[in-house]
Amino acid sequence: MSKIHEQKISRTEIRKKVREARRNLTPSFQNQAEENLTINFSQHIKLSKKAKIGLYLSNDGELNTNKLIQTLRVKKHQVYLPIIHPFNGASLLFQQYEENSPMVANRYAILEPKLNCSQICPLPELDILLMPLVAFDEQGNRLGMGGGYYDRTLAKHYAEQREKPKLIGLAHDCQKVESLPIEAWDVPLEQILTPTKFYQW
Ligand SMILES: Nc1ncnc2c1ncn2[C@@H]1O[C@H](COP(=O)(O)OP(=O)(O)OP(=O)(O)O)[C@@H](O)[C@H]1O
Ligand SMILES: [Mg+2]
Repeated sequence: MSKIHEQKISRTEIRKKVREARRNLTPSFQNQAEENLTINFSQHIKLSKKAKIGLYLSNDGELNTNKLIQTLRVKKHQVYLPIIHPFNGASLLFQQYEENSPMVANRYAILEPKLNCSQICPLPELDILLMPLVAFDEQGNRLGMGGGYYDRTLAKHYAEQREKPKLIGLAHDCQKVESLPIEAWDVPLEQILTPTKFYQW
C-alpha cells in the first residue's frame, strides 16, 4: 500500500473514532464542558475592548459554544460566524452574529447568518478565530471534518504569517491524539482551549 493511501486511511480512521467518542459524551458532561470552556476562556484569552471574534455554532458532539457566545456578547465583544462563500463555495466568510440575526441552514444543515454583505468582516480584521476541529495533537496540528474549508480560508493568512486573527482551536479533551498525519495544506493552530487545558505553541 502506498504511503499516501495509508495516510488517507489513517486520517479517515482518526476522524471516525474521535467523532464517535465526542458524540458519545453524555448531555450532563456536555453541559459541564460548556460551562468550563467559558471559565477557561476568560482565564487564558485576553481580549481588547470590543474585540472581533470569529466563532461557530456547534454540531456533531462538538464542545458547545452557546454559553461562550452569550458571555462574549454581554462583555460587548462582536461575534462573527462562518458562512460558506456564495460564489467560491469552498471557503468561508465571517458575518456578524447578533441575537436576532436571520439564520439559514447551509448544505450541511448547519445554521449560518443570512448573507448580508455589509456585515461581513474581512479575515485580517478579526482579532481571534476560534475554530472547530475533530482532532488535535501535541504539536498544534489540526484535523477538521475533511472539507478543507478552514484550510482554504486561512491559506493566505498562513503563507503571509499575518498577526491577526490569532488561530485558536476549541475541543473536548478526548479529541487530543499523540500525533496527526499532516498534509502540506493543513494550517496549524497557535493555541488550543479545552474545558480543562490551554495549549500554546
Ligand atoms: N489551501 C488549499 N488549496 C486548495 N485545496 C485545499 C487547500 N486546503 C485544503 N484543500 C483541499 O481540501 C481537502 C480537505 O482538506 P483536509 O482533509 O485538510 O480538511 P480539514 O482540515 O479536515 O477540513 P476543514 O479545513 O474544513 O476543517 C483536501 O483534499 C485538499 O485538497
Ligand atoms: Mg486540514
